[in-house]
Amino acid sequence: MEIRHFLLGLCAFCLFHRRASAESTCNLKAKFNLSGYKDVEKKKVVIGGMFPIHKRIASNDGNTLRLPVSSDCEGFNFRTFRWTQAMLFAINEINKREDLLPNTDLGYVIYDSCFTISKAVEGTLTYLTGQDEAVPNYRCGDGPPLAALVGAGGSDLSIATARILGLYHFPQVSYSSTCSALESKFQFPTFLRTIPNDKHQSTAIAKMVLHFGWTWVGTIAADDDYGKYGIKDFKEQVEEAGVCISFSETLSPEDIQRIVQTVVEATAKIIVVFSSDVDLSPLITELLRQNVTNRTWIATEAWVTSLWAKGCTLTDSLLGGTLGFAVKRASIPGFQRYLLDMDPYTDPLTEEFWETVCLGLPDGLCTGCESVAKLNNTYFDVSQLRITYSVYKAVYAVAHALHNLEHCKEGQGPFNGKDCADITDFEPWQVSLPHTDEEIYFDKGDVEGFYEIINWQFSSNGEISYVIVGHYNGSAAPEDRMNILNDSIVWNSEPPRSVCSENCQPGTRKGIRQGEPVCCFDCIPCADGEISNTSNARECILCGVDDWSNDAHDACVPKIIEFLAFGEPLGITFLFIALLFLFKVVFIMNVGTPLVKANDALLSFSLLFSLVVTFLCSIFFLGQPQNWSCMTSQVALALGFAFCLSSIMSGYTLLPHCVCYEMPLSTHLNIFSFLYTQGIACGVWLIMLPPHSIKNTSAKNIKIILECDEGSVVFICCIFSYDILLALLAFIFAFIARKLEDNFSEGKCITFGMLVFFIVWISFVPAYLSTRGKFMVAVQIFAILASSFGLLTCIFLPKCYILLVKPECNTEEMMRPHAKTRDGTATGTSASLATAATEVNATISSMHSRRGRYLCTKNLTFKHSSLVHTEQDKF
Ligand code: TRP
Repeated sequence: MEIRHFLLGLCAFCLFHRRASAESTCNLKAKFNLSGYKDVEKKKVVIGGMFPIHKRIASNDGNTLRLPVSSDCEGFNFRTFRWTQAMLFAINEINKREDLLPNTDLGYVIYDSCFTISKAVEGTLTYLTGQDEAVPNYRCGDGPPLAALVGAGGSDLSIATARILGLYHFPQVSYSSTCSALESKFQFPTFLRTIPNDKHQSTAIAKMVLHFGWTWVGTIAADDDYGKYGIKDFKEQVEEAGVCISFSETLSPEDIQRIVQTVVEATAKIIVVFSSDVDLSPLITELLRQNVTNRTWIATEAWVTSLWAKGCTLTDSLLGGTLGFAVKRASIPGFQRYLLDMDPYTDPLTEEFWETVCLGLPDGLCTGCESVAKLNNTYFDVSQLRITYSVYKAVYAVAHALHNLEHCKEGQGPFNGKDCADITDFEPWQVSLPHTDEEIYFDKGDVEGFYEIINWQFSSNGEISYVIVGHYNGSAAPEDRMNILNDSIVWNSEPPRSVCSENCQPGTRKGIRQGEPVCCFDCIPCADGEISNTSNARECILCGVDDWSNDAHDACVPKIIEFLAFGEPLGITFLFIALLFLFKVVFIMNVGTPLVKANDALLSFSLLFSLVVTFLCSIFFLGQPQNWSCMTSQVALALGFAFCLSSIMSGYTLLPHCVCYEMPLSTHLNIFSFLYTQGIACGVWLIMLPPHSIKNTSAKNIKIILECDEGSVVFICCIFSYDILLALLAFIFAFIARKLEDNFSEGKCITFGMLVFFIVWISFVPAYLSTRGKFMVAVQIFAILASSFGLLTCIFLPKCYILLVKPECNTEEMMRPHAKTRDGTATGTSASLATAATEVNATISSMHSRRGRYLCTKNLTFKHSSLVHTEQDKF
């Protein structure tokens, strides 16, 4: 340690004595090559400055095998040259002022950083040591003390210089480095700035994007800390708010072609660019060359007022309508005069300035005494003094700090024991910034986040004007931070829309596209029974059980209630048919006196009555189901059929066996016992688990079916199984009796009727099972009507035939079953009537013996009558 200290001390000593005898111990590694301004002679304090007066360093040949040479700079930048002049102007002004540092003349050392980190580091080391052949950590010579460094242009340069200056707690006041990384007091303890932190700007841009509803944006960032941090902060904020990034490019000279391609192909119409104008211009040139139009650019403070767009009509289609954020603008009184009064040939930089100006002029115009006011050059444009003003403020901030230091009252100072520092011999860390004054106030090293929102508007002759269309104030309440006058904005063509997918209308929902950002989605229509009533719904909502979606799928509407109503055509038809049949039954009952009473009157009536019941019960199936109608219809049907079938079974089919006009009482008892059993079963059913009306919401989506629930499947099965049993018995008996002769050949007719009955009910099963809703009821009614009508017709049609066609035979006498014998031989009188159509032969044979009584059969057939005559003649 001690040896090192000794050596360094020695080295410093050497340098201090102009390297007289030290060449043996210290050797020079490289000589820095810096350009700039310097005036330290007879000055009390020196302020440092660093400006990117050139745009880049001249590329070296890459040869690392020889002594390194500090590169030259190229690409003179008029704009930053004006910034430099602002610093000189401010120092001049302060030196002239009586109220600020009255006894102190400020000197300055200003270096050109050439927009390059290495040059900025060279400058910083040179400034700190006072030598361009510097020994780090030492400052040799007896020059005035250094106060602060104003600089160093771009953020990455400031980061580099602030790391070195931070080692010595050397104050640095930046006028343009906005990167949020510089806010860290831990890394950059003495870094301050007179320009807002980019945190505010990223937030402001995010707010603007959200304000205009753009959800699909592209970003381009400079390949430096400024671009990367700025875009990162911006992205974080917009992505949180649901905006998607279409593309994200980093500007580097080799990638220009690819970036242009990306911009051309991208569907995003909004492009946010975090870059300085210097870095961006190659891309803009290429986009212009490829005639890319119809994009809206969002500019940051570093290029929003860049003048390369000036006077070029082509830029209109590409950059017209650009919106951007600019730091506060101010006028600096006397500054324009100062710029105009600049002496042409005093120093190399000024000379280069004039050379560059003249190069851009038509031949012969550069005479050396030009009227600079006439030159249309960025340097002389004082309409947008923004960063320039920031430079001016930075110099003033340092001056104020020095003023305070100079006027410190002993015993009230900021240092140990309230000491003060000496203006002629102080350490840089003793320069106390932050400093409060009405103009400059550093809040933790930053100034407030205030921006003007600027819109690029082109006139027809290609002149650009930067129109202020709003403000952003980062320290206001969140809702008041930004105000934009939408109407003052002139867009490139129409107000841009930048979305990946258009909004999903109500009735649809967003469907994600695999592998694409969330802003790109498909709109999927809601399924039936589901709705979405907002646009951009993520999910469709299921309607309630009683509701269903409307056609547009944007509202739930009550389901249609379905039942077989009396009023609808089907209902009316059934009602009509049922009533028609009823009338028929009643007609038969009333009109067909003797005919109907053939066999057994009571039996006929009970059969007819049971049919009345079944026809009537079919009517109960119609209309809106109620608990009572459900009970009535089912029970009436069960009893009606039981009654009907038991009548058929125990009455009609047995009749041929017994010669009886009046049926034995036992038969009646039989019928009633069957009916009674069924009645009991129905009663139990009604008491225990009665049928009731229900709303069936599950059978059909869009409808609520009002239907009858059987209450208990077991009961209904039992009850109708009983009916089936009776039907089977009736059929079997009828089948057995079909060959027996009787008055109307009833055995056959009933067999046929029962067959119809079975066919109807067997075909009912699949028909019933394959329908839904009211058609189920319709099938039921149809089956009831058809089966009842089948029975009615088969049993009574032959009788009716007589009734209608041969009314003369409808007499008591004709109907008396004299012909019946105990042994069951068919000699019955009325048999011949009934079988007019079917059993002709049987009829004829019976007529042989009972001639006189069958006059009415005479005309049945020709054959008959001839036979009859023959018979009659015999008597
Ligand atoms: N804000 C930029 C940064 O932090 C620097 C900057 C601001 C700038 N305005 C500029 C650079 C204009 C070039 C030109 O890096």
